[in-house]
Amino acid sequence: MKLLAVNGSPRKSMNTGALLEKVVEGAISKGAEAELVHLRDFQYRGCMSCFHCKDPQGSSYGRCILKDDLRPILDLAHEADVLVLGTPFYFSIETAMMRAFMERLWFQYLLYTTKKPPLAPRKKALALVYTMNIKEEGMPAYGKDVVSGRAKGVMERLFAAPCELFLCTDTKQVPDYAKYEMDMWDASAKEKRHQEVFPKDLARAFDMGARLVS
Ligand SMILES: Cc1cc2nc3c(=O)[nH]c(=O)nc-3n(C[C@H](O)[C@H](O)[C@H](O)COP(=O)(O)O)c2cc1C
Repeated sequence: MKLLAVNGSPRKSMNTGALLEKVVEGAISKGAEAELVHLRDFQYRGCMSCFHCKDPQGSSYGRCILKDDLRPILDLAHEADVLVLGTPFYFSIETAMMRAFMERLWFQYLLYTTKKPPLAPRKKALALVYTMNIKEEGMPAYGKDVVSGRAKGVMERLFAAPCELFLCTDTKQVPDYAKYEMDMWDASAKEKRHQEVFPKDLARAFDMGARLVS
């Protein structure tokens, strides 16, 4: 059993990265193989709409033909039994690097026909991890697309497996709020939540990692 976690935050060890590390630890605790990759380490772009992946006579049917840094990561995602994608909210959606990854991952498998199922390998389980400044109360109106399960729906349709939605709200964005001009946030409330709630989020992430591979 192999779990792949993909971090779409440019910061490796902050909120999203820390949660994904716990997902990986949880999976390993159950005897699974698990790996975390950080998209910031790779140079790549989004889908180029070349349609090689939709040419049944071509050499790259069902697989992205672009030969950039994402190639080995797409291979890892193809082979994984469990796929966990994590990203901060940037202007209410995934980061640009996660969006570009999603385009490349998803489009290669999508078929514009109802005669065949998508070309993606079946997964055992899937999860999407979102972190954000906004408080939980604001989520339904604010992150409409995420709450309505837009990406979750695509993942489930392509990979034919259930996809968990893991939300981590009201995150601490920087180590020292006093250093920057960002007084619209209550630094002490952020710190308090980081001390009291974030450890529970980390525990939830660990449990999810263990559950996804079980
Ligand atoms: C460019 C940018 C845009 C952001 N947009 C939002 C947003 O629309 N909504 C929100 O709740 N938080 C937003 N944030 C805050 C991050 O989503 C939040 O701090 C997240 O937990 C950071 O994840 P990380 O620590 O893993 O990098 C934004 C941060 C940045 C840098």
